[in-house]
Amino acid sequence: MIALACDHTGVAMKQEIMKMLDEMGLEWKDYGNYDANNRDDDYPIYGYKAAKAVADGECDRGILICGTGIGIGIAAGKVKGIRVCTCSDVYSAILSKQHNDSNILTMGARVVGTEVAKLIAKSWLTAEFQGGRHQRRVEMIERIENGEAPEA
Ligand code: RB5
Repeated sequence: MIALACDHTGVAMKQEIMKMLDEMGLEWKDYGNYDANNRDDDYPIYGYKAAKAVADGECDRGILICGTGIGIGIAAGKVKGIRVCTCSDVYSAILSKQHNDSNILTMGARVVGTEVAKLIAKSWLTAEFQGGRHQRRVEMIERIENGEAPEA
């Protein structure tokens, strides 16, 4: 189950991502925003809802969109257990899964075109975490998240 969210800048791109997920046979849940004309919406609200769904296990991963992908990514990354990658290229998206086990991908609707965004999302969704030495580093990140130093 993929959590989707965006602010007003990402409504159209999110709809294209939904179609792609349907074609891939992947289920999704949409945590808003739904209104491309509401310029007063606040991306942290939607970023938080989708990130919480992933952190709580209601969804496996999330794809979030705002103008740059940055604001919604910063907001989502404040939720415990969330590892965000903000990507505008395929290589970073794949490596963020293979090495960092990222569980939320964010993209900027004002940064990348829809077809590039779909390619980035598809590459990220099909990449697999490699574990091994990368697992150790993810555990270090978790210790930082818990207020500890990374080295045990
Ligand atoms: C909205 O204008 C814009 O600030 C937002 O979509 C995002 O880019 C913030 O990081």
